[in-house]
Amino acid sequence: MSTQPIGIFDSGVGGTSIYKEIEALLPHENTIYLADSANAPYGNKSPEDILKLSIKNTEYLLNYNCKLIVVACNTATTNAIKVLRETYNIPFIGIEPAIKPASLNSKTKAIGILATKGTLTSKLFHDTTNLYKNDVQVIEQEGEGIVPLIEAGKTLSEDMKTLLKIYLEPMIKANIDYLVLGCTHYPYLLPLLLELLPKEVKIIDSGEAVARQTKTILEKQNLLNTETLSAKHQFYSNGDPKVMKTLLNEAYSVNFLNF
Ligand code: DGL
Repeated sequence: MSTQPIGIFDSGVGGTSIYKEIEALLPHENTIYLADSANAPYGNKSPEDILKLSIKNTEYLLNYNCKLIVVACNTATTNAIKVLRETYNIPFIGIEPAIKPASLNSKTKAIGILATKGTLTSKLFHDTTNLYKNDVQVIEQEGEGIVPLIEAGKTLSEDMKTLLKIYLEPMIKANIDYLVLGCTHYPYLLPLLLELLPKEVKIIDSGEAVARQTKTILEKQNLLNTETLSAKHQFYSNGDPKVMKTLLNEAYSVNFLNF
């Protein structure tokens, strides 16, 4: 059991930011990554469609005998993880925007959250925000158009910079001291965000926390890979494999898969 891979899926290439955290914390684990780029972005789809796609991705990964699945997509987690957990008999780890640490630590009492429409309109996101925001003002901003640009390989382009300027302006005006990245594609925007935001603003995401939670669950369920041979990592995409390969720093081969 322990040598079986960890399955990871996202609407596209963004979840590779989570894969990197998992690989760093759990270097002996075999992994298999599925990018549903042909259907990206998920953020503008209905909750029903997001659920259907999440089920399709899960069943695909189950063909590879995954022992645990990481839903490396905030949009899929907030709209589908409850049903996935109820339906399948393996552990699922999800990712949600880090509202709690941001509002707990905010001194200016204003934080920004950049996420997809699908995440910001989900019940899970609302419940979490209401639970943790306390007296902090939460400036929510849909990242419309960001995921398609990243999927097209235009992550640090002028078009992206123009979009980000528009999205960050109300947050800067509100004097935020934390920006929460609520989409696994967004850590790749870091160079632009650092350029555009006042230097006092801290940028946080949940990638490391997801890796830690993955480790905790594997330990608790006795599923850690005890073999110390070098781990095998497989990447599949139904979009252009080149984009993902670039984000992985050319380190791995990415296979096209028509799923
Ligand atoms: N990486 C996905 C997320 O974390 C992007 C969603 C989308 O495809 O719009 O939300």
